[in-house]
Amino acid sequence: MLRFLTAGESHGPELVAVIEGAPAGFDIDVARINHDLARRQKGYGRGGRMAIEHDEVRVVSGIRFGRTTGSPVTLIVENRDFKNWEKRMSADPRDRGEAKAVTRPRPGHADLAGVLKYNLDDIRDVLERASARETTARVAVGAFAKQLVAPFGVSLVGYVAGIGATEARVPSDLTIDELARVTEVSPVRVADAEAEQAMIAEIDECKKSGDTLGGIVEVLVAGLPPGLGSHVQWDRKLDGRIAHALMSVQAVKGVEFGMGFGAARVRGSQLHDEIGYDSAARRFTRHSNNSGGTEGGMTTGEPLLARVAFKPLSTLMRPLKSADIRSKAEAAGTIERSDVCAIPAAAVIAEAVVAYEVANAFIEKFGGDSLAEITRNYTGYVEQLRNY
Ligand SMILES: Cc1cc2nc3c(=O)[nH]c(=O)nc-3n(C[C@H](O)[C@H](O)[C@H](O)COP(=O)(O)O)c2cc1C
Repeated sequence: MLRFLTAGESHGPELVAVIEGAPAGFDIDVARINHDLARRQKGYGRGGRMAIEHDEVRVVSGIRFGRTTGSPVTLIVENRDFKNWEKRMSADPRDRGEAKAVTRPRPGHADLAGVLKYNLDDIRDVLERASARETTARVAVGAFAKQLVAPFGVSLVGYVAGIGATEARVPSDLTIDELARVTEVSPVRVADAEAEQAMIAEIDECKKSGDTLGGIVEVLVAGLPPGLGSHVQWDRKLDGRIAHALMSVQAVKGVEFGMGFGAARVRGSQLHDEIGYDSAARRFTRHSNNSGGTEGGMTTGEPLLARVAFKPLSTLMRPLKSADIRSKAEAAGTIERSDVCAIPAAAVIAEAVVAYEVANAFIEKFGGDSLAEITRNYTGYVEQLRNY
């Protein structure tokens, strides 16, 4: 099994991820990790912070001459903005300054619950870690994880299916590679030119009025064999594991697979994916994929499709009502530098989060300490399926 932890504050010196359990012998292209970090920084509607940062990963352990060694992999991303925050984010008690405390919690953020829980009197102690800047480390982990499953033909794409009231059409005739190419060049990561214009207009309007926007992203995974995850225990179910990981991303309010909540409104006969058999390919087939690629907590062999709902960002330039944590007096929520809409970036983050879960399930199923061992196990399983 893989596991990882992240550490680091939004305006601290660095973000860190330590990944353990990665087998040896996998080629890791650091440029591909940096490519995903750059994708996360893009998107119409981002604020000033992304103009300051130029995220690049520094590999500190676990990769030698471009290959995993089996040792823990440490990935570090520097926060360039730290140079403007050195005193305010200092670990040295001599740099403490009362005037710098943030005392007006922003509704929708971790601010109030965080200071109450940890008995803190400066909201910055909470917001620095709760910030979605943390997802930089998770995108680095996901980009690494993608390279563990790529040798087995697994590919993923995250894209935008809606921003605010505007839904984007997702053309069903595109391959996953085409969908990735088309959405990559869209400033709002959609494959629908008309929706793109409407989304940009809505973001502009929100910016003017000091408001924020949420949206829906989708993650599509192709090339998965049937049988990743398991039905035998609650915490082995892959849909549950992916949903947990996605729900843990900042601002996520809902996750569904395939037809998702829509499945509750149709009859069983309209929903379940009928089964066939392709004798030439020697594999079972489905006439539809309303399940979104999982049944009983296992992959079915069809593409996996997760939809993720993100709420509008919590920091408003026209702040909502709040109460000061020290004086308890009514006060407007603090204004921190903020995005208007981060949904295009959210799609890249969701893609990374799913990539990690899929890679973890893959390594669990085909377990081994090296690429050679995993390849043997994978090939044997594929053969077993063909002969089933
Ligand atoms: C890519 C991304 C960027 C975000 N940027 C901001 C931001 O600029 N301002 C803000 O108030 N919230 C932002 N958020 C959302 C907050 O981090 C999040 O709402 C907050 O940490 C509370 O967590 P919760 O919404 O999961 O309860 C962002 C979220 C994501 C995924």
